[in-house]
Parts: sequence; C-alpha cells; structure tokens
Amino acid sequence: MSKHKIVIAGCGGMAGTWASYALQRKDAEVAALVDIHKEAAEKFAVTYQLEVPIFRDVGEAVRSTQANLVFDTTIPSVHKSITMAAFEAGCDVMGEKPMSESLEDAIKMTEAAELSGRFYAVMQNRRYLKQIRALRHLIDQGVIGKVGMVSADFYIGAHFDGFRTAMKSPLILDMAIHTFDQARFIMQAEPVSVYCHEFNPAGSWYEGNAAAICIFEMFDGTVFSYRGSWCAEGVQTSWESEWRVNGTDGTAIWDGKDNPYCEVIQQSGQPVFQHAVARVDSEVPEMENEGHYGCLDAMFLALNQGKRAETDCRSNLNSMKMVFGAIESAAKGQKVWLT
Ligand SMILES: NC(=O)c1ccc[n+]([C@@H]2O[C@H](COP(=O)([O-])OP(=O)(O)OC[C@H]3O[C@@H](n4cnc5c(N)ncnc54)[C@H](O)[C@@H]3O)[C@@H](O)[C@H]2O)c1
Repeated sequence: MSKHKIVIAGCGGMAGTWASYALQRKDAEVAALVDIHKEAAEKFAVTYQLEVPIFRDVGEAVRSTQANLVFDTTIPSVHKSITMAAFEAGCDVMGEKPMSESLEDAIKMTEAAELSGRFYAVMQNRRYLKQIRALRHLIDQGVIGKVGMVSADFYIGAHFDGFRTAMKSPLILDMAIHTFDQARFIMQAEPVSVYCHEFNPAGSWYEGNAAAICIFEMFDGTVFSYRGSWCAEGVQTSWESEWRVNGTDGTAIWDGKDNPYCEVIQQSGQPVFQHAVARVDSEVPEMENEGHYGCLDAMFLALNQGKRAETDCRSNLNSMKMVFGAIESAAKGQKVWLT
C-alpha cells in the first residue's frame, strides 16, 4: 500500500490534532513541517516525535519530499497562499476553516482546485458528531414533518490571544462559519439571502465585532436565524450551539451536548386550540470517530475513492457565502442576496 506523504503547514495549536490523526493512519506519514516561525516547527517536531525536515515555504517542502498531500493548519489570512502553492506543486489539500478571509479568495481557491483537478476539502468538524447526525436523521425520517424554521444560539465567553483579536469580524468569520455550515447540513438547504446586525457588546474584550444576529432565507423558503456572542460570560451554550427545528408536525431540540429529541403532535381528529404532543427520542448512530477525526476520516475516504468530500471546497463555498453575506449585510445595514 503506497502511503500518503503529508506536509503539515502551520505548526500552531490546531496542528497537533491533525498530526496526531496522521500518525495513527496506516496509509499516511508526515513528510515535512512548514512554519514561518522555525522555532514553532521545531517545538512541534519534538512534541510529536517527528524526525522530518522543516521548511518555511510549502512549495519547497512538497518538492523536496515528493509529498502528495498538504494539511493547511495555518491562520485564515494565509490559507489562500498555502493552498495555491500546494496545487502548483501538484498536491491535494485538506485545510482548516475558514477557507479564506474574503469570498473572492475562496472563489479563486475553488476555481484553482477545479482547474488543477486537485482535491481540496475543508475542516467542518462540527458536522461530524453523533448527535447532529441523529438530529438530521429525525428530520430525514419526517418525524417533525416539513421543516419551516430553524434557530441556533451560540453564547460563549472565549478569551483568545493571537489572530482572532485583530479580526474585524472574529465571531462571524472564525466561529459562525461552523454554525452556518451546521445549518446547511441540518436543513439540507442552501442559503439565498441574509440580513445581519453585527456588533461589539458592552464589556467585549475583542477589537472587532464579537456578536451578531442573522436571518437567512434558504432556497426552499425555510428560514434560519442565528444569535451569537463570543464575549458572553455565564450560562454558556455548547460550542455546537443550541438548536430548535420547527416542522409542520412538531419541534426537534438539540442543546449541542445531549441527544436530540422532539415533541410531535398527537392527531385527535377534533379541532383543538393547542395539540397534545408526545416526546420522540432520537436514534444516535455509531461513529468510529467524531469531530476532527470524523471529518478527516471522511476526507481520506473520499480522497482514496477519487470522490469529492462532503466538505469539498465547492460545497463549503456556500457556508463562506453565508459568512461574507452576513458581514456585507451588517456593513450596508440591509438584506443581501447570496448569488
Ligand atoms: N475546526 C476547529 O474547531 C478549529 C479550532 C481552532 C482553530 N481552527 C482553525 O485552525 C487554523 C489555525 O488556528 P490555530 O489556533 O492553530 O492558530 P495558531 O496561531 O495557533 O497557529 C497557526 C500557525 O501557523 C503559522 N503560520 C502563520 N503564517 C504562516 C505562513 N505564511 N506559513 C506557514 N506557517 C504560518 C504560525 O506561525 C503558527 O504556528 C485557523 O484557520 C483556525 O480558524 C479550527
């Protein structure tokens, strides 16, 4: 069996999870590390016991080691240059979210993947969890009828240092990308418009806007509403957000931690003011791996089968359109159509 030879670009906090995953795959090996800060890569090599060459430039790393795959775990502003350089050097890419810091860049990266015929899949670990799959299953089974409206609440007080502190829209760009992507997954619908109010609440320790409220219309007429804050102290939600899905026959709830459940109306055959409801618990599927490992399992399966991953860049572009549409809407103070 020929092994995937992987270059890990960006040896910071997140890269550790990716390296640990690569090290436990029989069909993969880490061939090189890349970081603009040599010391970061050296420290990383010691931590993960990687006796591999270290480079500053991803193209050079690929050419020197004949690698076929780049893990891009650099910061968002750098994803475009790393991905383009990897394609030019003849490599496939699995990269961290968000794809880029602008929609234009994400479109160029997707076009480059298309033109070069390269594989480019984006980490959306929050859709690879047993509970979110159980919620999807409840909806797919028609347990709550036809979905009309979905809402997600995200309230976390996260005190970061590093690149997020300098972002203009840290919540929407670096975190809500997850929740927006989860909404597309749960609703199995693509967005057509957004109205967003983005702001920085009193007491926020962020420079950019750490809170937002958004309303998305999806192509099938369903509506997704989002309320989020990254500077919310106390009574915090899950990082997966708290979800409510309203359908014609009932409502499904997922608090982002426990198993989802729903309440479904009991048809009495008589006109009633309010229906009696019965609780239906979800069937939680088995998954060998969840989160990052689950998403990487799916990426490698697709790559090995010559198929597009569920989180292929072409699909992920729709989550990016939600992000940049929301930012544009907030800046203009009006509803924006997502073309
Ligand atoms: N999926 C998730 O749940 C999740 C969680 C945290 C972070 N992330 C994402 O992972 C990515 C990295 O985040 P992090 O917290 O590990 O950041 P980090 O700042 O800890 O690490 C980034 C690393 O990239 C290096 N780097 C910067 N510019 C570079 C360049 N031009 N070439 C090579 N290396 C370069 C830095 O020196 C640093 O070592 C971001 O896109 C972030 O949004 C995802």
